[in-house]
Amino acid sequence: MNAPLKTVPRHFLDLSDHDSATLKAIIADARRRKAARTGLPKGAPDADRPLDGRVLAMIFDKQSTRTRISFDMAARQLGGSALMLTGNEMQLAREETIADTARVISRYVDAVMIRLLDHEMVEDLAANATIPVINGLTKWSHPCQIMADIQTFEEHRGSIAGATVAWVGDTNNVLHSFVHAAVKFGFKLKVASPREFPLDPEVRDWASTSDLVSFGTDPEAAVKDADCVVTDTWVSLGDDNATKRRTILKPYQVNQALMGLAARDALFMHCLPAHRGEEVVDAVIDGPQSVVFDEAENRLHAQKAILAWALS
Ligand code: CP
Ligand code: NVA
Repeated sequence: MNAPLKTVPRHFLDLSDHDSATLKAIIADARRRKAARTGLPKGAPDADRPLDGRVLAMIFDKQSTRTRISFDMAARQLGGSALMLTGNEMQLAREETIADTARVISRYVDAVMIRLLDHEMVEDLAANATIPVINGLTKWSHPCQIMADIQTFEEHRGSIAGATVAWVGDTNNVLHSFVHAAVKFGFKLKVASPREFPLDPEVRDWASTSDLVSFGTDPEAAVKDADCVVTDTWVSLGDDNATKRRTILKPYQVNQALMGLAARDALFMHCLPAHRGEEVVDAVIDGPQSVVFDEAENRLHAQKAILAWALS
C-alpha cells in the first residue's frame, strides 16, 4: 500500500513565500471580516467561524502588546481559542530542540503563532510541524504587521499598487517585510537609512529582481512626493548599543518638516510601539495624517484572515 500523502501545512513565515494572488486574497478577506463585524461587541464570534473548536498556541519569547492581544481576540472571534505560552516557561528554555517542540505541539493544537528573534528556529519549527506556523515577529521579518499595514493603506487610499511608500530609519525586520510587500503588491518603496546600517544583502538581492525598491541615505529624497511615510523604532527587540543607534539614527526622525515634503495627503504609518521624540514627533504621530491606530486595529482583522487561510 502506498504511504499516505503528507499534507504540507500552510505556514505564514514571510510574505516572500507567497504569491501575490494569495496575499491579495487574504487582504480582501480581512476587509470583508472587518466590515462584517460592524456593531458587534468585541467578544462576539463572527458569523463565519473557521476556527470552531480549534486551538491556537501562541509562544512568546519576547514582549508584545498588539500581537498577543490581537491573535488571542482573532482566535476567539473565529470560534476558537488561544493558549498563551512563553519560551521561558517551556522546556525550550532547557534545551529541548525546536524540532521536538514542533512535533509535540502538533499533537495538541491546531496552529502555532510564535515570536522568537531567531528566524531560523522558526523555520525549523515550521519544517517539523504538521500544523500551520505563523511568524509573529523574528529579527528577520514581521509579515503579519505588513499585512495590516497594506489593509490600512488601502482603506484610506485605495489600491496600493503603483503608490510610493517612503521608509525612513532603521533597516530592520519591519523594513524586510515592507520590501517583500513592495514586490508582491506592486508599490514603489524608497528607503532612506544610515550608511552605518546597510540593508541585509539577502533582502537587497531579493528586491533587485524588480525595480520597485530603491535604497539611499537621504530621508528628504526618499520622502519627496511619497504617498505614505513609514518609520519604526531605532532600537528593536534584541538590539544592543541603544545609545549609539539613537545617535546614528537622529537625522532620520520623522517630524513635520520631513512630512511636509511628502504628498499633501500622505499617510504616516508606524507599527508601534513608538518612541515619541525619537523616530517620530508627537505632532506627526498624533496629527491628521497618522493612521497608526488603524494599523494596530487591522492587526486583528488581517490576522483573522491569515488564520482562516492557514486553517482552511
Ligand atoms: N507592532 C507589534 O508587533 O507590536 P507588539 O510588539 O506590541 O506585538
Ligand atoms: N522593529 C521592532 C518592531 C516591533 C513591533 C522590533 O523588532 O522591536
